[in-house]
Amino acid sequence: MAIRKVAVMGHPVLRQVAKQVPEKDISKPEIQTLIQDMIETMFEYDGRGLAAPQIHESLQIVVMVWDFEPEAKPYLRVLINPEIKPLTEETASCWEGCLSLPGLRGKVNRPNKISVTGLDAKGQKIDFEAEGFAATVIQHECDHLIGKLYIDRITDLSQFGFSRECSQFLIKEEPVDH
Ligand code: NI
Repeated sequence: MAIRKVAVMGHPVLRQVAKQVPEKDISKPEIQTLIQDMIETMFEYDGRGLAAPQIHESLQIVVMVWDFEPEAKPYLRVLINPEIKPLTEETASCWEGCLSLPGLRGKVNRPNKISVTGLDAKGQKIDFEAEGFAATVIQHECDHLIGKLYIDRITDLSQFGFSRECSQFLIKEEPVDH
């Protein structure tokens, strides 16, 4: 396992559409090692989610800390070739951060409820719904797989800035980096 270099905004890998991982390749050591490297890198940089393009691998893989269920212990969730669909027109706003835009935050509106399908780290099919903050984090990560960054979703640039200046707004709104 290894901590990998994180690509920051400006690097073209963050603007590419990532390739799907063939199902038969998921169990291969190179993919399993990549997943482990993503997890290690995410923790090293205090992120709560990371997409493979952020470590210069243009593949459709996302890792995230799943701690959205108050009753359940936090665990790691891996999404491979994820597809998301909004289930509501209702949106929620969140001050998002990103390991690829260090030190910055922006307020983004996204659908508040989504469905998620894809594969997990063992190649098993996944199919679940996510709401609220969990839906925000998944949408942020899946955007990385289609070459989008959260700044592309900001509608009001007065709601974008350096974390140290925005922090007064963040106290109630749980700042995070993805
Ligand atoms: Ni991000």
